[in-house]
Parts: sequence; structure tokens; C-alpha cells
Amino acid sequence: MKEQILSQLSTECPWRDTLYWYDTIDSTNTKAKALAKDGAPHGTVLIAGSQTGGRGRLGRSFSSPAGMGVYLSVILRPNCPPEDLMHLTCAAAVAMCDAVERTAGIHPRIKWTNDLVFEKKKLGGILTELCPDPNTALVDYGIIGIGINCCQTKLDFPSDIQNIAASLSMVSGKTIRPSCLAAAMIEALVDMDRTLFTEKEHIMDRYRKDCITLGQDILLVRGEDSLYGTAVDLDAEGGLIVRFADGSVKTVTSGEVSVRGMYGYI
Ligand code: BTN
Repeated sequence: MKEQILSQLSTECPWRDTLYWYDTIDSTNTKAKALAKDGAPHGTVLIAGSQTGGRGRLGRSFSSPAGMGVYLSVILRPNCPPEDLMHLTCAAAVAMCDAVERTAGIHPRIKWTNDLVFEKKKLGGILTELCPDPNTALVDYGIIGIGINCCQTKLDFPSDIQNIAASLSMVSGKTIRPSCLAAAMIEALVDMDRTLFTEKEHIMDRYRKDCITLGQDILLVRGEDSLYGTAVDLDAEGGLIVRFADGSVKTVTSGEVSVRGMYGYI
């Protein structure tokens, strides 16, 4: 599999020599953290055929069956304060829209902040984790973990997500080779890495265009609290600007946001 991915990566790709393949692993993000702590360099890419403990945001699991999707993490060492990387998940989402379009010929949209969706079904997600260096207050390393469903049929998903998840082959009607998608994802992440700081505004404009959450009635769930509101815009860092039912306007940077009609408003 690693050879197939390499054969589809450009020979110029700067991350070719730091690509690791695992037939099965608990979580590529967890392994990436361990490698980063041991000094793995910027651009180390981990890809797994399956994950036994794939993790999503808010402590959720990410279904990662063998041969059905791409489960990939990359280690970044940008040497900047964490505040400069608030848009990292947005940038990765825009990059993944490009990779999916190139591979499957469909243009996914983004459910704020980290879900790739197509016609109200989740195709995949992004889990970004930053670790600051306590001595310098700069980022020691950042991990971008991405899972994209490629080949599942509806019944291949766990029953509790069968109505809200889809794979690229389901929505495009094409046979999708995980190795092709993995190579496109790596190339798109390399481009993202090159422009992350120099083209932030352009990246955020693209995110805004593809974000299905904007203009929608939303339900914000934070711990025990649920608040209804309308998503009116994104700030420059990717925070969601929400007008709540009591008329107050606040920027939301964490918590679960559900869009009415999307996944049934859960
Ligand atoms: C989400 O849906 O909230 C994010 C899902 C992220 C899943 C990917 S799969 C590769 C990497 N390893 C993990 O354990 N999680 C991410």
C-alpha cells in the first residue's frame, strides 16, 4: 500500500521520505503524538489501513474499518505561537475539499468546523491537536488527523451512523482507490503547509464559501447547556459568529454545533 501511495505522489513531494504505513493501529493521531515527542520532523505522515481506536472531536470515535477509508495524520512543527494556528483546522478542511474533488470529482462542503459533508451526509472529519512547548510558549508540534470514508456501502457503517454517514463511492458513484485519495490528501496538505501563513485570508474566504453552517439556524451544545442561534459569519481565525435567540452575538470557538436539518439537528 505504501508503494502504491508513493507511486502516485509527485517525485518532488517533500514528505515522501517521512511517510509511514501501518496495516492496523489504534489511532494515527495517538501514534503521531508519540513520534513527535520522540522528535519526528515536520512533514512526518502516518497512514493506516485500519484503526481500532480512531478518535474524533469531543471524545467521539471515528469508524475506521480495514480498506474502506483513508486514516492519515501529519506532524507539523511550525515554530509559532498557538494563536497563529487557530485557522489550522479550516485550512486542512479546504485542502481536503481539493483532494476529494481531484479524486472523486465531487465538491464536498464543510460543516463547521471540521466535518466534510456532501448532501447532508458526513464523508469524513478532521481532528487537529496542538502541543505547546512549555519552555518557549511556541507550538512544539501540531497534528492534523483526517479520516475520509472511501469505499463503504451504507451497511458497512455502524448502525447508529448509517443515516448520517456516506463514502465517496456512495456519493460519486465511482470506485475510489484509497491509495489515490491518500496521495491527493498528502499533496493538498503540502500546498496548505506552503500557504498557511501567507494566504490566510484567501484560505478563510474559501472556507466561508464552502461552509454550510453559515446563515443556518444552529444549536450549540456545550456540556449541559444548549443554546439556539443563527450562524452569521466566521471571524478571521475561523471562530463561528453566532447571533443567539436573546439577541446577543458571540464568537464560538469550541463546542458542538448542529445545523437544523443537518444530521436531523442532533
Ligand atoms: C471527527 O469526525 O470529529 C474527526 C475525525 C478524525 C479521524 C481521523 S482518522 C486519522 C486520525 N486518527 C484519529 O484517531 N483520528 C483522526
